[in-house]
Amino acid sequence: MAIFQFNYTELNNDKELTSSDYHLLSEAKRITEGAYAPYSKFKVGASVLLKNGKIILGVNIENASYPVGICAERSALASAISQFPEVEIEAIAISYLASKGENDKPAFPCGMCRQFISECEDRNQSPIRLILGAQNGKVILLETSKNLLPFSFTSADLG
Ligand code: THU
Repeated sequence: MAIFQFNYTELNNDKELTSSDYHLLSEAKRITEGAYAPYSKFKVGASVLLKNGKIILGVNIENASYPVGICAERSALASAISQFPEVEIEAIAISYLASKGENDKPAFPCGMCRQFISECEDRNQSPIRLILGAQNGKVILLETSKNLLPFSFTSADLG
């Protein structure tokens, strides 16, 4: 029997992050407020750190035709790639602000975003670190989004 396992880091709060990661997560937290989420009332913010030091932000943007909406991760990554197509992506921090609940547990990217981040890593030819934290509480660090998407479908499958 084969086993899939991976390492991740769980921190008690954002104060335990490096100053660069702390700043990146703070930017994701800050931008959540401006998300357009009138239907779910679940606001998400993502901040992408590029190798040139630039930080590109994105939020979820919903639509009356529900499937048309876009998640914060894809919104931020699409903007980063559009503006800096030649620059490698180093990390992405994701936060949220929910109208219900305590906003104190990290939320993981949805399946569609895992697939999207995974292709960004392939394009990058290097891993993208994930920093996940709510407004307060624990923070989870993952060295690569691939850990969240084992046996993924990739360009290699297209032949
Ligand atoms: N959402 C994100 O922005 N990122 C995720 O990874 C999970 C879900 C958004 C989509 C929708 O606007 C709202 O959160 C509720 O699902």
